[in-house]
Amino acid sequence: MQRFDVVVVGAGYVGLSTGACLAHLGHRVTFVDRDAGRVEGLSAGVIPVHEPHLGDIIRTYRDRISFTTSLAEAVPGCEMLFVAVDTPQGEGGSADLSNVAAVARDLGRILAADPGGRSSPLLVVNKSTVPVGSGDYVSMLVREGMSGVAEAEGNGADFRVVSNPEFLREGSAVHDTLFPDRIVLGSESEAAFETMRELYRPIIERSFEPVPSMSGVGSLGGLYGTSPGPFPEGGVPFVTTDLQSAEMIKYAANAFLATKISFINEISNICELVGADVTSVSEGIGLDGRIGSRFLDAGAGWGGSCFPKDVSALRAAARERGYEPGLLDAAVAVNERQRGLAVAKLQQEIGNLEDRRVALLGLAFKPGTDDLRDAPSLYIARELRSLGARVVGYDPVAGEKAREVLASSGVDLEVAEDPHEALRGAHAAVIVTDWEEVRSLDLARAAREMEEPKMLVDGRNVLDPAEARAQGLRYEGFGRG
Ligand SMILES: NC(=O)c1ccc[n+]([C@@H]2O[C@H](COP(=O)([O-])OP(=O)(O)OC[C@H]3O[C@@H](n4cnc5c(N)ncnc54)[C@H](O)[C@@H]3O)[C@@H](O)[C@H]2O)c1
Repeated sequence: MQRFDVVVVGAGYVGLSTGACLAHLGHRVTFVDRDAGRVEGLSAGVIPVHEPHLGDIIRTYRDRISFTTSLAEAVPGCEMLFVAVDTPQGEGGSADLSNVAAVARDLGRILAADPGGRSSPLLVVNKSTVPVGSGDYVSMLVREGMSGVAEAEGNGADFRVVSNPEFLREGSAVHDTLFPDRIVLGSESEAAFETMRELYRPIIERSFEPVPSMSGVGSLGGLYGTSPGPFPEGGVPFVTTDLQSAEMIKYAANAFLATKISFINEISNICELVGADVTSVSEGIGLDGRIGSRFLDAGAGWGGSCFPKDVSALRAAARERGYEPGLLDAAVAVNERQRGLAVAKLQQEIGNLEDRRVALLGLAFKPGTDDLRDAPSLYIARELRSLGARVVGYDPVAGEKAREVLASSGVDLEVAEDPHEALRGAHAAVIVTDWEEVRSLDLARAAREMEEPKMLVDGRNVLDPAEARAQGLRYEGFGRG
């Protein structure tokens, strides 16, 4: 197996997972991040994001992993450079590419002065989610950065931009990187495809050593039902296409999944009106192979670091070109309404929420992560506070972070150490994130600890309504008849 010298710019969820897994395959990896505190912490073994197995891998391969804030220090001698910086939502809903652009310009200046010594052009591999056309934009910026300095001869400073969109899910990022459903590559260069295929060969052929902390991988210890599934004949699909199509694949995938959730939420609202149970409906339609059962859970809506900003960027890209993306607009509208429903259900049952204590069970945007970007919990907490409720939150990993995020916008959140501390004295509770600790809540104890009217809004439809009611809770799910 060929071993590569790889630079990963951006040591966040995607960059760290990608780089750690590449090190696990045997490649040498240098992480570059502009956040000096993050680099210092990582060098001392502190992993800045909550992601299973990440710390174990990074600590195991410290001899082939390094961290720096200096791109100039990292680039000489590297054969490929992954761009995994954040691309948040910018003005008008479109993607803010300033971080990607900063890396491209810096790289241009560095390459101009870099005698290289590479046998082939440097591959600039874009893992950040970027709008269609960004690959060409990055090429242009790198060249711009190089101009002014006499262009170096030969392959030393030559480069090719490759799009390699990322599909990992937070909470199982290492697993998803090692066991992807597919690898997508966009480039104009056949040679680039071959180099990338070589880099990923152990993943494509599933020939890498097991990660020790993932005991019995294949099951991943039951982490949120994640399983790599049967090994596909001929290896993991390796989809090669042009740059633009690769960039579009990422947006289309996220827009589809977000729309699928909004679809079931729409059905769920109709279920409530006609007396049907959306959990049965989901099961019944999900077993149809054409539909599939995943992303068919009704509840308090989607959030997180990707769906909202990516759907927004795709809508903005369509509008800039004179196209009205009606379906995507509707998916967002349904989601916004859905977020408001948890509070509306409380109001319907309790009336005035002034001075009522409401417990939010789960704060991260989904289980398995500490990520709070665009988390429904933040929206619900703000709404409840604006109605005068006292809000207490519990999350196994994101509690303190949620308190800080909300405090920065003047919203106070009390943070509890465990679900029962949050429920003690609460008039109502909302299940926002279906962590295992929340799914397996002791309902009898919850009912004893809560105050009348002991209302429980199950924003993820994870509890058995009959059992919750039998224990004395006023249970209200989403679309459950
Ligand atoms: N998080 C996910 O689940 C996920 C999944 C698929 C794709 N993506 C995409 O991957 C990209 C990265 O997402 P993330 O969640 O890992 O972001 P993140 O915010 O966790 O990490 C980004 C890192 O990049 C660093 N950075 C920003 N600008 C920099 C610069 N100019 N030089 C050096 N470092 C810089 C930041 O300091 C930060 O540590 C985004 O485009 C995102 O849309 C994310």
